[in-house]
Amino acid sequence: MPATTASAPALSSDVDPDDWLAFARVNQTRRAVRDFAATPVADDDVRAILAEAMLAPSSGNLQPYQLHWVREPGLRARVAAACNGQRAAASAPVLLVVSAAPTAARRTLDAQLAHIDSAPGLDAGARTYYRGKLGGFRRFLALSSIALWSPIHALVALFAPTLTLLPMGPVGLRHWAARSAIYAAQTLLLAARARGLDACPMEGFSARQVARLLRLPRGHVVPIVIAVGHRRPDARIEARWRRPYADAVVEH
Ligand SMILES: Cc1cc2nc3c(=O)[nH]c(=O)nc-3n(C[C@H](O)[C@H](O)[C@H](O)COP(=O)(O)O)c2cc1C
Repeated sequence: MPATTASAPALSSDVDPDDWLAFARVNQTRRAVRDFAATPVADDDVRAILAEAMLAPSSGNLQPYQLHWVREPGLRARVAAACNGQRAAASAPVLLVVSAAPTAARRTLDAQLAHIDSAPGLDAGARTYYRGKLGGFRRFLALSSIALWSPIHALVALFAPTLTLLPMGPVGLRHWAARSAIYAAQTLLLAARARGLDACPMEGFSARQVARLLRLPRGHVVPIVIAVGHRRPDARIEARWRRPYADAVVEH
């Protein structure tokens, strides 16, 4: 058990204990692994974890990210080098890069509108509701992307720090996109573990180099790079530590 779990609260009767146990096992055995075996990872396993990652929640279901599977060995080596030559990146047989951008949200919006127009299961009321909701998001994306918001937002955040995360201006919008992308990244980490794989999320990389190597369009940010593979038997993994439960959890 990790240090945070002070006690194991009883399961309520409507919870399937197998579900909880399976989740807890995956979550508790997921570790940041930095030494990978040369054993290749099956393509189907990579596809499976990428598909699970896509089920992550996102703001407005706009999925403002792309998941890049760096397959070509030469390119993978260059991306690994751009991760400051980190052990995890250099030894992993699979490198995944998560990019995020408001333009990805706009594309999703168009695709979602087309889906709503043609989805057989939706009645007229639901179609109207979703069209209205997506129209609101389109206006939000258009308005927020105005560059003038960025200096205004910086000033607002200075005087009212709780408003720092407002998606105002191109910078705020990129942060907004990155937040949703991170949910996909975390889902991917858990999916990898559930699939018998290990992973290491990495923020130690040159975003400019990675973006250039992957030819990311202007406006994409790279919230995280993820190394995936099978841990080496002698992989160095420290005993897990978390701060006390009462430090992190505040009951109001
Ligand atoms: C946003 C983020 C960035 C991270 N960047 C790196 C990194 O660049 N290199 C690395 O070896 N581990 C990195 N990690 C892994 C953390 O060091 C690791 O998750 C933490 O020490 C807790 O260990 P655990 O994941 O095994 O529980 C990162 C984790 C997160 C969430």
